[in-house]
Amino acid sequence: MTKTKAAIFISGRGSNMMALVEAAKVPDFPADFVVVVSNDPAAKGLEWAQSQGIEALAVDHKAYGKDREAHERAIDAALRERGVEFICLAGYMRILTPWLVEQWQGRMINIHPALLPDFKGLHTHERALEAEVKEHGATVHWVTPGVDEGEIIAQARVPVFADDSAEKLAARVLIEEHRLYPAAVRKVLANYSSGNKSAS
Ligand code: GRF
Repeated sequence: MTKTKAAIFISGRGSNMMALVEAAKVPDFPADFVVVVSNDPAAKGLEWAQSQGIEALAVDHKAYGKDREAHERAIDAALRERGVEFICLAGYMRILTPWLVEQWQGRMINIHPALLPDFKGLHTHERALEAEVKEHGATVHWVTPGVDEGEIIAQARVPVFADDSAEKLAARVLIEEHRLYPAAVRKVLANYSSGNKSAS
């Protein structure tokens, strides 16, 4: 089978990246993760990627000052040099510029730790507890210019218990994220051909 060359963007520990890379070890997984990109050279996940023989590329946003687009142009150029066709955002903690989103729309997905459209943005677990929801979870969605607003690809649900802390709830959601993200990549890339923007 032809695998789609893909990149994973991280900013920290990279547990979702690990789940994707592990899932991609089976022969029929439709993506080949050729590079892991981080805006933070100290991101823990970079070392792990390297230990797996995957290129770990740090493009430090601090080197670009306030010019967010210049930072993303550097990343974009690196991706194109490597023939990357698809991007999985996995705990990438930068809001993307409209420019980068435009370059990759239809070829870039994200995982968000909440049941979108509820709890867009940060601190989702704390906010879910404050709102006293009975169910919480994670969403994989297409990336569009509005933050956490793109079309939903797949969701995973977990119960919220009366004695939950944000940490306990986050841990329960994270277990589901690690199953959800590889499954969502499989779903999206089935019948996907390079440059096909109607893959959803
Ligand atoms: C995950 O909860 C993900 O949904 C969110 O940020 C967290 C990243 O965790 N976008 P990790 O770096 O994948 O471990």
